[in-house]
Amino acid sequence: MSESGPAISNLQADGAEYPPPPAFAAAARINSRGVVTDADADPVAWWEAQAGRLTWDTPWTRALDDDNAPFYRWFTGGTLNVAANCLDRHLPDRGNTVAFHWEGEPGDTLALTYRDLHDRVCRFANALAGLGVARGGRVAIYMGMVPELPIAMLACARLGAAFTVVFGGFSAEALRERMNDFGATVLVTQDEGWRGGKTVPLKANADDALDGAPGVTHSVVAQRTGGDVNWTPGRDLWFHELEAAASPDCPAEPMDAEQMLFVLYTSGSTGKPKGIVHTSGGYLTGAASTHANVFDLRDDDVYWCAADIGWITGHSYIVFGPLANGATSVMYEGAPGHPAQDRLWGIAERYGVTILYLAPTAIRLFMKWGDQEPAGHDLSRIRLLGSVGEPINPEAWEWYREHIGGDAAPIVDTWWQTETGSIMISPLPGLDTLKPGSAGKTLPGIHAEIVGEDGQPVAGGEGGYLLLTHPWPSMLRTLLGDDDRYVSTYWERFPGKYLAGDGCRQDADGDMWLLGRIDDVMNVSGHRLSTIEIESALVDHPAVAEAAVIGRADPVTGEAIAAFVTLRDGFEGDDRIIAELRDHVAMRIGAIAKPKSIVLTPDLPKTRSGKIMRRLLKDVSEQRNLGDVTTLANEEVVSAIADMADAMRGQED
Ligand code: PRX
Repeated sequence: MSESGPAISNLQADGAEYPPPPAFAAAARINSRGVVTDADADPVAWWEAQAGRLTWDTPWTRALDDDNAPFYRWFTGGTLNVAANCLDRHLPDRGNTVAFHWEGEPGDTLALTYRDLHDRVCRFANALAGLGVARGGRVAIYMGMVPELPIAMLACARLGAAFTVVFGGFSAEALRERMNDFGATVLVTQDEGWRGGKTVPLKANADDALDGAPGVTHSVVAQRTGGDVNWTPGRDLWFHELEAAASPDCPAEPMDAEQMLFVLYTSGSTGKPKGIVHTSGGYLTGAASTHANVFDLRDDDVYWCAADIGWITGHSYIVFGPLANGATSVMYEGAPGHPAQDRLWGIAERYGVTILYLAPTAIRLFMKWGDQEPAGHDLSRIRLLGSVGEPINPEAWEWYREHIGGDAAPIVDTWWQTETGSIMISPLPGLDTLKPGSAGKTLPGIHAEIVGEDGQPVAGGEGGYLLLTHPWPSMLRTLLGDDDRYVSTYWERFPGKYLAGDGCRQDADGDMWLLGRIDDVMNVSGHRLSTIEIESALVDHPAVAEAAVIGRADPVTGEAIAAFVTLRDGFEGDDRIIAELRDHVAMRIGAIAKPKSIVLTPDLPKTRSGKIMRRLLKDVSEQRNLGDVTTLANEEVVSAIADMADAMRGQED
């Protein structure tokens, strides 16, 4: 918790309401309140029914095992293979159905049917097995949005080996830290990625990372751009060569429901990323169930989640949910504005996209680019829209509905987290009346409470801490290697209840209004970043004495990273050092963590006990009245910083 206290004030006014279009409601998967009330009355029975969407090799003997809470287990005794659920079982009826319409940034395309994907996954699983990867093994994946990325994930799942995907925008150091923490023995990467017409040196970064990751014995490299790469014989292997040489015959063995499927690192309120552990049966149940129900999936839908697989959204709603449901998806490699600002709309038109799932930051960017961009394309097949990653402002919501949804498509604003594995709060589009800016109600089987500091539910309409009060199958099982941090982060403050870390309020209809993070976590373009992680990267630079980082409100990215830095004596505070510091953060964490602005200040505002007052820096950055500053040890510094705030707002990427 930051010294600023929870950001749980009510910032949003209620406005327009949109009931489900009658035709949509009539045909929807869930269009009766009774389904929801039954599920809420007996969540375990609901989840058992949802687990029935999957094909189990052995039925579970116990649905929810809470003997060792909060280390919950789901579907114990049950066995299944996640890859077989995503691929093999679709072959008889949907073998020739496209699983992914993949489009590369330069414009090359590939349609992968379920049969194609099955064949490639089996081959790559055999290839990995040849490198010593077996049940319980550990594989790191550092790639852009190429078909080989889901293939590698599914190949691991087929073998029962756990994987961790490290977003391609992370630096070599971030990759190294994650590979070592995870205990990876094999890395899967690619030569280079395409992004905005430029190449991203993924293998070069991976090579750097491998220098300090002695546990990784092999690096498998998918060829994407064909650019020159350094090669370490014996360690480096081409993906396509392994795939071609491997047998397509790879029987899917049953895995325990609680077999670890993947770890995804995410920022917490300390400098060390948390390794969120997800397992097999419960995770896939949550992903498949919510993907079908929230997106009201039908056989003929063309579904597109335009996230990156490097984040949880891509894991659950590009790879596992859609494939478990036998869906046809679009997967796009590159930047949304390349080569022109209508790229996404061209893709949506070309493949006849019917369901589109985006982040608010992308929607605001498209708004900025102008109505003419989507207007130049036929988007009439779109029947449902989704939003994820941060609160969506009502203005962006309305624009999305009008310009992308043809003034008719319902929008599901979905609230969830890396930790929750699947969507927890969202409207059901055939049932719920939508309110722009509200994420609606908890999904069937999910129970939430909003409480004050004392743990008591807040009075109607007030802001408080969002808690999830009943375990759910796709919940994280622990933090890798740190059970204590798992308990203390999520379960200790309000015993027996999961602390989400978000502020929330609930209106008289029971609709939830998310109010942002209550801890030192920022949300920049829907990406979660820790202020402390960036501060650590800054103070690691020899010129820096002290640093404070905050997220300041930004019209496009939600929050923008603003850093306040005190230099050591003898260092010149000029533009060159500011540029150097920004590059230093990019090198330590990744370009996504680069501060948008850096203010050099002789001192930082501190309490008398020496704690940096980040709240005050946030107020300065957002031009708010500073109120009482007399508790500060160094009152005078505030006006100096305020003077610099305008200059800071002028700095750009
Ligand atoms: O603050 C909430 C915000 O994103 C956080 C989770 O980030 P991450 O684990 O990276 O997962 C993002 C994709 C699921 C949450 O604690 N958040 C996510 N979705 C919403 C949201 N805030 C408001 N409304 C949402 N729909």
